[in-house]
Amino acid sequence: MRTHHRSLPRPAAALLGSLLLVAAGAGALGAVPAAASPTASAPAAATPLGQIVPAPAKATAGGSAYRITAATRIRVEDGSREARRIGDYLAGVLRPSTGYKLPVTDAEGRDGIRLELHRKDGELGAEGYRLTSDGRSVTVVAREAAGLFHGVQTLRQQLPAKVEADSRQAGPWLVAGGTIEDTPRYAWRGAHLDVSRHFFTVGQVKRYIDELALYKVNKLHLHLSDDQGWRLAIDSWPRLATYGGSTQVGGGAGGYYTKAQYKEIVRYAASRYLEVVPEIDMPSHTNAALASYAELNCDGVAPPLYTGTEVGFSSLCVNKDITYKFVDDVVREVAALTPGRYLHIGGDEAHSTSHEDYVAFMNKVQPIVAKYGKTVVGWHQLTEATPAKGALAQYWGTEGTGAAEKARVAEAAKNGTGLIISPADRTYLDMKYTKDTPLGLSWAGYVEVRRSYDWDPGTYLPGAPSEAVKGVEAPLWSETLSTSAHLDYMAFPRLPGVAELGWSPAATHDWDTYKVRLAAQAPRWDALGIGYYKSPQVPWPAG
Ligand code: ACM
Repeated sequence: MRTHHRSLPRPAAALLGSLLLVAAGAGALGAVPAAASPTASAPAAATPLGQIVPAPAKATAGGSAYRITAATRIRVEDGSREARRIGDYLAGVLRPSTGYKLPVTDAEGRDGIRLELHRKDGELGAEGYRLTSDGRSVTVVAREAAGLFHGVQTLRQQLPAKVEADSRQAGPWLVAGGTIEDTPRYAWRGAHLDVSRHFFTVGQVKRYIDELALYKVNKLHLHLSDDQGWRLAIDSWPRLATYGGSTQVGGGAGGYYTKAQYKEIVRYAASRYLEVVPEIDMPSHTNAALASYAELNCDGVAPPLYTGTEVGFSSLCVNKDITYKFVDDVVREVAALTPGRYLHIGGDEAHSTSHEDYVAFMNKVQPIVAKYGKTVVGWHQLTEATPAKGALAQYWGTEGTGAAEKARVAEAAKNGTGLIISPADRTYLDMKYTKDTPLGLSWAGYVEVRRSYDWDPGTYLPGAPSEAVKGVEAPLWSETLSTSAHLDYMAFPRLPGVAELGWSPAATHDWDTYKVRLAAQAPRWDALGIGYYKSPQVPWPAG
């Protein structure tokens, strides 16, 4: 089975981290303008500019803070439905806690919270934004709506944590003065959720999406099928969901998404600027499908449903034509439901498929994905076959992964295969933090908060060109997880660290300053009802 070894994290580089602290100090000093003087009984300083997660590329603190008051309006770009929607979203965050009306208007004005689209501002790219705060306004400018949305997340984090509360709180609501200019390091900043081992409802997935959005994550990789459950209705093979989705690890009722429900997840994710990446894992991790249709098995006999947690025992029948009819139908229907560019075909742990069969299968399936207009993503075992042009391989090895396997993935990267970096002993959110963690697994070792943060995706895989690295992803496997509280506890506080690795320039990477910014997130999680692991590595606020 999966046996991997760990070693100690490499030391942190402390470059821009200290620069940010200097800028932050200036922000704190400049944050108490005369107009916004807090009362003596409620001393308040705005969150120093840029003291957020992920760290912004550049924060220049100075000048007066902006104060949200009962008179504040949210001014959105005239004529942009997306800017209006983002304005409404922001109002939805701010109204309950501030108690202010915060009307959203497209009337121009130089005051208030302003959300502007500057379509020609090439520097901001597809997801970047500029936030400027002074005594009169806080203005977020972006080229694309996604950038505006990310800028709104920054604005949220610059406000006091209690802004997240769903009941009225005492102000003042200050945003430190200055300018943040921010664009992401990587285009792929993913989170994966295993809805197969345990099923999670649409509501539970939406909750996780909201948590991801706060940290500027932009891909939601849904692991929709595995041995224990098939979770998406497929019209041409209906028993996949109705039978194959009828249980889960431990034998519970399981469940599946109707097409309408899956579309609702896709829509909700898109409203938070996340692209859904559906995964149909094959040729292994397929017991739920094999149990649903006898003809998919080489011996024509359907195995029973499976509710355990072993891996690698199942395989589609590589030499049967019907296997490829099945794959074609499933890929066609999933692609049709998915506006995103990618379709993940798994390909991991095919321990019951011979190497020759595996290669033949993966090489036959990839063109089917292309036929339906999607780009292939696979776990890095895909590189044992011939990755299609443009395919992405998701590296999930560990420090214990053999040199030959690492070299094979690096070689594929040199030949044009893009990489998503998800080392299991760094980014797997289902790994226990310590031996005492009540949830999770430990096959990749224990992953404390520092270990999950303190590494560099750009140089992680020896020999892989840094341009091949498209980003990072934090998988959350659910063998031991069945509630939102479980997901929260494993994701927090590690998820924000992986999100920062994806977003922030390498030069900002510094554990000692990161842990302080991370600690400052805790009251926000409290206000949002997110339970988290109180790692002793992080200087959490008292109380
Ligand atoms: C994996 O963890 N089997 C991708």
